[in-house]
Amino acid sequence: MNSTPTTRRLVLTRSAAVIGAASTGLLLPELAKAQSGKLRVGLMLPYTGTFAQLGVAIENGVRLAINEQGGKLGGREIEYFKVDDESEPAKGIENANKLVQRDKVDVLIGTVHSGVQMGIHKVARDSGVLSLIPNAGVHMATRAQCAPNVFRTSFSNSQPTRALGAAMVAKGHKRAVWITWKYAAGDEAFEGFKEGYLAAGGTIIKELGLPFPNVEFQALLTEIAALKPDAVACFFAGGASAKFMIDYAAAGLKDKIPLYGSGFLTEGMLDAAGPAAEGVMTTLHYGDSIETPRNKAFRLAYAKTFKMQPDVYAVQGYDTGLLLVHGANAVKGDLNNKAVLYKAMETVTIDSPRGKWTMSKSHNPIQDIYLRVVQNKENKVIGVAAKALADSGAGCKMG
Ligand code: PHB
Repeated sequence: MNSTPTTRRLVLTRSAAVIGAASTGLLLPELAKAQSGKLRVGLMLPYTGTFAQLGVAIENGVRLAINEQGGKLGGREIEYFKVDDESEPAKGIENANKLVQRDKVDVLIGTVHSGVQMGIHKVARDSGVLSLIPNAGVHMATRAQCAPNVFRTSFSNSQPTRALGAAMVAKGHKRAVWITWKYAAGDEAFEGFKEGYLAAGGTIIKELGLPFPNVEFQALLTEIAALKPDAVACFFAGGASAKFMIDYAAAGLKDKIPLYGSGFLTEGMLDAAGPAAEGVMTTLHYGDSIETPRNKAFRLAYAKTFKMQPDVYAVQGYDTGLLLVHGANAVKGDLNNKAVLYKAMETVTIDSPRGKWTMSKSHNPIQDIYLRVVQNKENKVIGVAAKALADSGAGCKMG
C-alpha cells in the first residue's frame, strides 16, 4: 500500500534524524540516553602491586572533588566503572578496552604507570574517548603523540627532576650517581635531571638501574658505596620507595652520601619509611606544608573523608575531578560537544591545593616545582625550585 503524504513525511524526517545520529555513531534512543542518562566515568588504576596505594589516593581525590561540586557532572548523575590495571603494561590495551568497548564509558581516568598509559593512549586515540591522565608522566602523551581528547593533570616525567640538579649543586654536591627503575618514567625523569644537573655544573659519574618493579637494591647500594659520589639522585615511587630508603640507610649510606630524588620518593610512604626518610631532599609539584587556605581546606576535607593523609597522588586525582567538573559544566553534561568541551578544558585555571596551574598547548600542567625536605614525617616545602615550569611539548601537533 502507498504511504499517505503525512506518513511519508514522518518517515523521511525520522530517517534524516537517524542518519544524523548515525553519523555521530549513535541511534536515536542511544542519543537520548547519552545526553540524559548517567554519565559513565571509567577509572583504570592500579589497585594491586607496588602502586596500589597510589591508585586508591587518586580515586579518593577524584571522588572528593566531584562530591564537593555537588556530586554531578554538568547536571548528570554519575556511574563509576573500575578496572585494576595492576601496573601491567602488557594488559594496558585490553584493560582500557574493557572500559571503552564493554562499559562504554564517557571518560576514562587513568593511570599511574607510564607503560600502561601507552596502552590507554592508543585506545584513546583510536576511539576518541575523553582521556584524563591523573599521574603517568610518559612524554609522548603530551609531546609527539599529543591528542585533542587527552589531558594530563599531573606532570611530564622530566618536569619534577628538571630543577633537582641546581638544588644539589647549590649544596656543593657536584658528582652524583643516578639510580632508577629502567622504564619510561625512570628514563624520562633522568632526562630532566641530567639537563638541570649538567647545566648547573654537576657531573653524573654513573647511571644505575633495575627493572620495574624489582626491589633487590643490595648489589647497587654496594656499588654506590664503592663509587663514593657526593650525592645520589633517584626516581622510585610507591611501596618500593620506602624499601629503597630503608635499604639505603641500612647499608650505612644515609649519613655519608646525601640522598635526593624526584619527590615521588617520599610521597605516601613516610610512615612506612620512618627515620630512613628524614632529611631526604626532593623536588615536586606539591608539598604537604604549602601554607595556603586552599591546601589546608583540602587536607582537612580529605583526612575527614578518608581517615588518611593526602599526598601528591590525592592532589592529582582531586585536580582531575576539578577539570572534569569544569569541562562537563561547560557543555551541560554533553561530552559529545567536543569543541566546546576541549576549549573549556584548555583554557581553565585549576585552583589546586598545589597552587594555581594552567594547561599548556599540549595539555600538560604549567606549574611551580617545590624544593622539599622530609621533616617529622612531613614533606616540608623549603623553596620554589622552578616557577611556572612547562614541558617542552616537543613534536605536539593537535588535530
Ligand atoms: C609513571 O610510571 O609515569 C610514574 C609512576 C609513579 C610515579 C610517577 C610516575 O610516582
